[in-house]
Amino acid sequence: MINEFRPGQIWLDTEDNPINAHGGGILHHEGIYYWYGECRPEGPSNLDARIGVSCYKSADLLNWENLGVALFVVHDDPSHPLTSGCKIERPKVLFNAATKTFVMWWHHDLKGWGHAGAYAGVAVADRPEGPFSFIEILKPCGRMARDCTLFQDTDGVASFIYASDDNANLCIHRLGDDYRKPTNIVMQAFPGRFMEAPCVFKHDGRYFFLGSDCTGWTPNEARSASAPTIFGPWKELGNPGLGEGADTTWGGQSTFVLPVAGKPGAFIFMADIWKPENLAGSRHVWLPLFFKKSPAGFIRPHVRWFERWTLSIFDQPESLR
Ligand code: DGJ
Repeated sequence: MINEFRPGQIWLDTEDNPINAHGGGILHHEGIYYWYGECRPEGPSNLDARIGVSCYKSADLLNWENLGVALFVVHDDPSHPLTSGCKIERPKVLFNAATKTFVMWWHHDLKGWGHAGAYAGVAVADRPEGPFSFIEILKPCGRMARDCTLFQDTDGVASFIYASDDNANLCIHRLGDDYRKPTNIVMQAFPGRFMEAPCVFKHDGRYFFLGSDCTGWTPNEARSASAPTIFGPWKELGNPGLGEGADTTWGGQSTFVLPVAGKPGAFIFMADIWKPENLAGSRHVWLPLFFKKSPAGFIRPHVRWFERWTLSIFDQPESLR
């Protein structure tokens, strides 16, 4: 049994294999957490998708059971967008209560195109672990889509958030009621800021953004912002990281901010320490995220390094964290 988070260390699943879910996100559904991520093949540099999207489940966020591949690449049809050798990055999943389906979005690129195509991919399933059925790849309202996330608001309205315009601008794009298509409601946030690795979450009625600069697989200083509505106006709040190592986000790049179920105000910052020479060996960094009021009165998210920690940290008085 694993009984504490150890950021940056090899994290084994319940079968003692390293958790292979990178650039991922978490869905909390009916009391269980599901972790989706890029399932990378072991071995020397392989920047393309050869397996698909993995899915793990956990009740305690520490011990994860591998449920297998939720979305498979296609091995027998070179013309299929999901053909082995395409790119499937940063998959995220929401549950749509109206259609009772699980909807996955990710950044997709066609085999042989590098990151030049910049599509979003969409797939659906009727069970959290899949298998997900491919629907399509698309460019939301004709826009490029690279690093991405999904956000489901408290009223069930969902948005797809993605780096667009060759990463220069971040788009926040409202999805239709079934979460399968973008609507034509979209805003451009952070013009010219080249925000990657977007994460969006809500606390006390306010919207927060965490992301990174755009430096390939090399780590950089994380960024944060907040807004009164999902469509802004977004105000940048600087690096949420505190202390030694925060200038490179402890070697990581954000991938998701997870609200801890049953603990209002408790959030976990999730990041990947990329190992581009063997992406399967990329490490996971999970750290507690806290909010503090700045002297100017802004509520700012903060993350600092803990060698090891447990969820009980959220119950401790602020002075002890
Ligand atoms: C940074 C992105 O955040 C990753 O998902 C990946 O696309 C790399 N760039 C590729 O260089």
